[in-house]
Amino acid sequence: MQINPLSDVLGAEVIGIDVGNLDEVTFDKVHEAFLEHHVLVFRDQNLPPERQVAFAQRFGELDVHIQKDNKHSGHEAIQVLSNKKVNGEYIGSPSAGDAWHSDLSYTDIPTLCTMLYAMEIPEVGGDTEWSNMYRAYDTLSEEMKQRLDGLHARHTFNRFRNPRVEVPEIYKGIGKERYADIAPPDAVHPLVRTHPETGRKALYLSERFTIGIEELEEEEGQALMDELIAHQKQRDFIYRHKWSLHDLTIWDNRCLIHLACGGVPEGQIRHMHRVIVRGDKPY
Ligand code: OGA
Ligand code: MN
Repeated sequence: MQINPLSDVLGAEVIGIDVGNLDEVTFDKVHEAFLEHHVLVFRDQNLPPERQVAFAQRFGELDVHIQKDNKHSGHEAIQVLSNKKVNGEYIGSPSAGDAWHSDLSYTDIPTLCTMLYAMEIPEVGGDTEWSNMYRAYDTLSEEMKQRLDGLHARHTFNRFRNPRVEVPEIYKGIGKERYADIAPPDAVHPLVRTHPETGRKALYLSERFTIGIEELEEEEGQALMDELIAHQKQRDFIYRHKWSLHDLTIWDNRCLIHLACGGVPEGQIRHMHRVIVRGDKPY
């Protein structure tokens, strides 16, 4: 097994292993590399759904997504991200992750890690970016760190309540009320969270899901969020991944935010299988 860093800030590719067939010792090394690099890219994996699910289960209990329409027909735990259409209908979610976020931060128990497997990739577009939230926290001024200490942010799935994101046409169609129905209750989390395995502090907010700061007046909270959101998207905190066919990526949502960059031209297909592992309550 060879581990090659993909950038100065996060990410490593793991060469020479089959994730469907790892002994305990090798898995421990993979897990260590996951904590160190936050995103791992395994090349050339052969992963039918049951093998992807089995590998994900080694990291913890699997979770299901609230958007049930993206579920793989044969495998509950697999979600399909795809711009493929059958009989005029998308067979998976075509636009998941189109604004910076950390998975399921709008729930009480957000995602530990997400695993995405590239079954079909376009020639152009479809990249994924991750930004390092340890780095974002560490580079704040001492004064800002003190200011954030003890603050909590409100997270929601509901795009209609978040002026920082667009409401795609398909959701405008189902309307505000229906959308509010499928959105779970808001979650409130510390603005700076402590990673339960490394003990390091990470900035924990995002454009997509965070709508306010509990302890501050509206205007002051929004101004602080604007400042932190600009900070967390600095290019030198970010690694951009151009997918190769049969890449499996796994990333740590407790210390990263990520973005689906889009830009796949009409007629090209991006088709991924996704599994998420349940984390614990941020503190
Ligand atoms: C996700 C996600 C980004 C992408 O699966 O949680 O945000 O590039 N995906 O598909
Ligand atoms: Mn995501």
